[in-house]
Amino acid sequence: MFQDSRKYPQPLADNGIFDIRSNLAIGGAALVFLLLTVSSFAQDSFTNFAQGNLEITNGGDDSPESIKLRSGAGDPIEGKEKSQLCQGCHGEYGISIEPLIPKLAGQYASYIAKELRNYQAGTRSHQIMNAMAATINDENLADIAAYFASQNKMKGDGSADNQFGKDLFLHGDPSKMRLACVNCHGIKGKGLAPTMPMFPVIGGQHKDYIRRQLINFRDGYRTNSPNAIMNRIASSLTDDEIESLAEYSSAQ
Ligand code: HEC
Ligand code: HEC
Repeated sequence: MFQDSRKYPQPLADNGIFDIRSNLAIGGAALVFLLLTVSSFAQDSFTNFAQGNLEITNGGDDSPESIKLRSGAGDPIEGKEKSQLCQGCHGEYGISIEPLIPKLAGQYASYIAKELRNYQAGTRSHQIMNAMAATINDENLADIAAYFASQNKMKGDGSADNQFGKDLFLHGDPSKMRLACVNCHGIKGKGLAPTMPMFPVIGGQHKDYIRRQLINFRDGYRTNSPNAIMNRIASSLTDDEIESLAEYSSAQ
């Protein structure tokens, strides 16, 4: 479903409409993508999107239906066995202890699988994960992804409800043509919808991990988001803004 980002030395400046329509389900977020890829668009439509005037769901709860939807076609029971090695770092139930090792609990299976394929192909670089991903074949991949997706969704402890981070997350900054995170990552970062698994859950993820990824996107060390969307989003973020966004998101 995803384009291989290696084929696209990703342009950071807008240069017209990319051919992304076929990759995306029809929905608000897809429109956001389209808007972002058009070099000139009306400030009003931007403001609407930036302020989250979209039909947004909470990305699915921990009901059996939502869990089934986000787990995809793999078998979570098989996946539990096959992911022993992974559990050593990511936690038995996908809740890692190390702050730079991401939680996988309740993450969309197809996002997990997409990231693993990116590590395999080298379009996302991390010494440990490039080696780990190389140990998985396609069939195991679906089962392992389903196992972590089927856990109750990751959750923060709510202690740090950073107001500045929350405002940026919910409203973006229309004066700087910045889109609000909520448009794609959903309310409290819990994902947009189980049927839109390309937008990962970030609410309740470790703060240090979120900060690291935002810096990696901003500084170009991570370039595997579709159409370099996260590189554009992060490109104008200051260290302080990243800190506040990471604090707000991780607490949810
Ligand atoms: C030795 C520790 C370790 C082991 C074992 C390990 N991982 Fe990881 N994993 C990490 C670290 C560290 C990262 C963050 C890498 C980065 O910053 O790109 C990560 C990142 C990931 C991500 C990206 C998550 C996201 O939110 O984007 C996925 C998916 C993942 N690992 C799955 C697995 C699977 C499946 C296995 C088993 C085959 C596994 N990992 C084994 C340490 C580990
Ligand atoms: C237009 C849609 C869109 C918007 C707006 C957006 N994101 Fe993202 N974000 C994505 C997509 C798509 C990915 C998945 C990238 C990939 O496929 O590897 C992502 C990935 C991420 C990740 C990495 C997650 C992980 O587990 O590794 C973080 C952190 C993140 N976004 C934070 C933010 C923050 C903070 C904002 C607001 C400042 C934001 N995003 C706004 C679409 C968006």
